[in-house]
Amino acid sequence: MTGSTARPVDLRSDTLTSPTPAMRRAMADAEVGDDVYGEDPTVRALEERVAALLGHEAALFCPTGSMANVLALRTLVGVGEEVLCEARAHVARAELGAHAAYTGLTMRTWSDPRGGVDLAAVEDLFAPDLGPFFVATRAVAIENTHNFAGGTVVPLADLEALRAFADGHGVRIHLDGARIWNAHVATGVPLATYGGLVDVAAVCLSKGLGAPVGSLVVGSADAVAESRVWRKRMGGGMRQVGVLAAAGLHALEHHLERLADDHAHARLLAEAWDVDPAGVATNIVVREVGDAAAYVAAAAAAGVRVSALGRTTVRLVTHLDVTRDDAERAARVLAALPR
Ligand SMILES: Cc1ncc(COP(=O)(O)O)c(C=O)c1O
Repeated sequence: MTGSTARPVDLRSDTLTSPTPAMRRAMADAEVGDDVYGEDPTVRALEERVAALLGHEAALFCPTGSMANVLALRTLVGVGEEVLCEARAHVARAELGAHAAYTGLTMRTWSDPRGGVDLAAVEDLFAPDLGPFFVATRAVAIENTHNFAGGTVVPLADLEALRAFADGHGVRIHLDGARIWNAHVATGVPLATYGGLVDVAAVCLSKGLGAPVGSLVVGSADAVAESRVWRKRMGGGMRQVGVLAAAGLHALEHHLERLADDHAHARLLAEAWDVDPAGVATNIVVREVGDAAAYVAAAAAAGVRVSALGRTTVRLVTHLDVTRDDAERAARVLAALPR
């Protein structure tokens, strides 16, 4: 069935998932304690698990990816210093200036069609510390997968080259790994390999993994200890949040490998949208249309919800609550809709 009488297929974001019955049971059964006192065993188990997966010393449970990005980046960059990132990076476009407001850092950007690392541009942008003349570059932030570029994966060789550049210039690397799980499942590159190429990372449980809330800062014991202080300072000290950490542990156990299904659904939808599925690496598809707002409204009227990313750019995202049937139904609607 197509049209407005069927349940809409909601492809606006992979943050729209509801906890499954099994996840809710895990949450209800969680052992808890006061996490500001460091006494929530489920939070500690989650932090240890995520740190180990990424190959780092420690991790810190945070309410959101935005907070985790702010905390992580501020361990590398201080007031009046800069981070370089890609122009459409979430840290630059969608965290509402939090890095400037809380940390006092500045950003300069390079543009890459797939949201990747343009090392020549990074080399050109890099500014050494010259005292009171220019803002000094302290870090480079990468986003893997890259949301607004269409769920693209940053190639491993590019990450290795960036690491070599960073080591040679005393610069450090932050990974916005909100969807590093998707990159791992799409490429088979171990999470610890991705983790080993960066100094600090933020990862999210509330995107493709389907937890209702939760992100983590991952890094050295020192970086995480510093982030713990700043999390409290920012009002992010939480108490019996083992109920939420349990959702994250459940997601890592049961929802990681299935991301491959979301990727297959995204390729199916890409074909219906006349986007080359070979360019769709994970669960996000972006395309240009004549008028994004009008397109979003027409798709919604036909029972498929997608997002406008700009005046002429639309995005769809597959996730845990989109079945194969849903994807096929949405594909039929999108194939028939004027662009
Ligand atoms: C790449 C990326 N980083 C960070 C975030 C921020 O996560 P949150 O919405 O939990 O603040 C998002 C959110 O969609 C994202 O897509």
